[in-house]
Amino acid sequence: MFRPVARGGMAELTAPGVSTELTGRRVRLRPLREEDFEAWQEVRTRCRDWLLPWEPRPASAPYPPEDRQSFATRCAMRERERQLGTGFAFGIFAGPRFVGEVNLSSVQRGPFQNAYVGYWMDQMQAGRSYVPEACVLLFRFAFEDLGLHRLQISIIPRNRPSRRVAQKLWLRGEGIALRYLEIDGKWEDHVRYAITSEEWTERRERYQRQWLSEQSAF
Ligand SMILES: CC(C)(COP(=O)(O)OP(=O)(O)OC[C@H]1O[C@@H](n2cnc3c(N)ncnc32)[C@H](O)[C@@H]1OP(=O)(O)O)[C@@H](O)C(=O)NCCC(=O)NCCS
Repeated sequence: MFRPVARGGMAELTAPGVSTELTGRRVRLRPLREEDFEAWQEVRTRCRDWLLPWEPRPASAPYPPEDRQSFATRCAMRERERQLGTGFAFGIFAGPRFVGEVNLSSVQRGPFQNAYVGYWMDQMQAGRSYVPEACVLLFRFAFEDLGLHRLQISIIPRNRPSRRVAQKLWLRGEGIALRYLEIDGKWEDHVRYAITSEEWTERRERYQRQWLSEQSAF
């Protein structure tokens, strides 16, 4: 049974089905629920052209459905992943406002202890460093609560805003993987970035000071 260690600043996740909430300086992360549908759909609809060029989608596949029922199914699937310990998806909230999503996916245990990080932000809220702050919360959760060893982020080389996020987070580049993921119908090369638990521990205070304390630069 999956039982992450409860810790200050985070609501306990002591049993499957109990939500996790991560609180930063300006953003709060929590799993999306059915009642978030209107806010989520408003952002997704308004930001469609902003988001779709960067999202995994096979060629000629229709746009993913964004109706209430599909959203409810998605929330239930994410909750199941959380219970199984295979994925941890969060909505990003700035105050009460839903502004984006960040997630850990394909959590692998055994000798790998790895997960992949993905994120997106409402176009109207871009440029406020909300995603880097959310990532630091997610890193802390992944390394200190889940006990993972490695997190990876893969980014299309021309996605400058996202690569800037990787730079702000002091992630280590591990080279380019050719035709790595099918994004918006095309097999795209990706720059692979990573951070390990050793690097997290080494830089923990710096992350805390820069991104989470009241005196942060952002
Ligand atoms: C990449 C993304 C998640 C960054 O989130 P964010 O919260 O805006 O991150 P930041 O505020 O740290 O901005 C990162 C960089 O984006 C650029 N940027 C800022 N505002 C922008 C805007 N309105 N439009 C385009 N780029 C912008 C800036 O270069 C910024 O760097 P700076 O802070 O040094 O100026 C967001 O741009 C996004 O959702 N893009 C579309 C989907 C996507 O690319 N997802 C990630 C796939 S790997």
